[in-house]
Amino acid sequence: MPAKTDNSVVINAPFELVWSMTNDIESWPQLFNEYSDAKVLERDDERIRFRLSTHPDADGQVWSWVSDRFPDHATKTVRAVRVEKGPFEFMNLHWEYEELPEGTRMRWQQEFDMKPGAPKNNEQMTNHLNTATQSNMGHIKKVIEEAAQQQAGTRSVVETIPLADDDLHGWHQVLLSFGGRLLKVVQVLLELDIAERLTGGPRPVEELARESGADETALYRLLRTATAVGIFRETAARCFENTPMSSGLLRSSDVVPLIKYNTMDMTTLPYEELMHSVRTGEPAFEHRFGKSFYQYLEDNPADREFFEQFMSHWARQMTEEEMNSFGFERFTKLADLGGNDGYFLGQALRGHPGLSAVLMDLPEVVGSADPVLAKHGVSDRVEVCAGDFFEQPIPEGCDAYLLKAVLHNHSDERAERLLRRVRERIGDTGATLLVWDMVMAPANHWDHGKLLDLDMLVLYGGRERTLEDWRELFARTGFELVNDPIEHWTLLECKAR
Ligand SMILES: C[S@@+](CC[C@H](N)C(=O)[O-])C[C@H]1O[C@@H](n2cnc3c(N)ncnc32)[C@H](O)[C@@H]1O
Repeated sequence: MPAKTDNSVVINAPFELVWSMTNDIESWPQLFNEYSDAKVLERDDERIRFRLSTHPDADGQVWSWVSDRFPDHATKTVRAVRVEKGPFEFMNLHWEYEELPEGTRMRWQQEFDMKPGAPKNNEQMTNHLNTATQSNMGHIKKVIEEAAQQQAGTRSVVETIPLADDDLHGWHQVLLSFGGRLLKVVQVLLELDIAERLTGGPRPVEELARESGADETALYRLLRTATAVGIFRETAARCFENTPMSSGLLRSSDVVPLIKYNTMDMTTLPYEELMHSVRTGEPAFEHRFGKSFYQYLEDNPADREFFEQFMSHWARQMTEEEMNSFGFERFTKLADLGGNDGYFLGQALRGHPGLSAVLMDLPEVVGSADPVLAKHGVSDRVEVCAGDFFEQPIPEGCDAYLLKAVLHNHSDERAERLLRRVRERIGDTGATLLVWDMVMAPANHWDHGKLLDLDMLVLYGGRERTLEDWRELFARTGFELVNDPIEHWTLLECKAR
């Protein structure tokens, strides 16, 4: 006869929260005591196929199996079956949720039969499952009730919420509505220089308010809000200290120019018109300002100066390993197309005395190249070519053509046009195409590049590309990828096909 277990727990939280948290399989390692990993393998409208792995048991054994799950929100039930049955002949699960005045009752029933010769018989497995289920239910109750309290805004203010991926989970949906305000909070904290004022250790809000010229009570409320997402920690009543998150607000942090960039009119106003970009595929920037991003920079010198510094700051952060990945020792003459003021060429040529180069960029840009090349001591090996790479001939006689951080600024149509021009120039010379650009992670993975991709859509009319997108783009323009690029900023090396 098959065996059965039947356990339930009442969680002091609304049904929707209990449903969403207990059906979010990826978060089960935080919800269940026994699981170390939970991976969704397939998902469609009705069924989720997933793999669970346990923490090692008393014998050091890790168990892992695949199940199918069929959640039905309308009837507040979930049916599940084990696909990889392991020691079970079969294992079926049925979950029910019931809304009660005191919260949500969750009932789990398991029906199973052990295989003959399995390490546990039906009775032993029933005892084991009852114990494990009750322990899991106790933990789940605690985690969900804490999340419910957070939702109701009743959580203690001095408790820090860590921001590791796993812990952030309960906040995702709330941040959907508050993300914009959070950026405002960050902007004001930065302007008041709070992180910098805390570098010597914890300080009372009274002092911080006096020094920064803020209202003490309002500043306290701002800091208290910031602690909710891990920016600063309240160590004792009304005293705050820095945290790993708030170190991003120190003047020396790379995040500071990003915050400034993301709060300037030239980025925030076009983003208000994101819908325009989404409906038309066109940059909302032009819709909002009536001119292209680069024309706007021409007309607004202060913004231009900031943007150029901001860009060159990022562009110039190249590690030795990244620099070495180009293998410049293989080449004799390099064309840097869109090479800006020649800083990169200066770096590359300085370490490769046998290499000469052509620097090509728009006339107003290469105008500032001379001192940069001179400073690197490479002026005699660089020919400066002021011109538009869509119009002027691509320099000839080079055995390597570099497009560094250029193609992501361009739509597929323009990127194709440029690559075709380079391909034509390369002909059958055997020269190499070196593209240094962003390889975006595929869907469902966190990647800052995905946010940059939207910037490209809204502001510049360019796009970030996945490895597949790159392969296709190269194939359409007569190139073939010959190296194995990593994700994020990376070298894509190509040969003519
Ligand atoms: C994002 S920047 C990259 C600069 C440089 N390669 C680097 O990695 O720092 C893009 C460069 O492409 C240049 N550019 C844009 N359109 C161009 C065109 N039509 N002809 C030549 N250069 C162009 C810009 O002036 C700019 O220097």
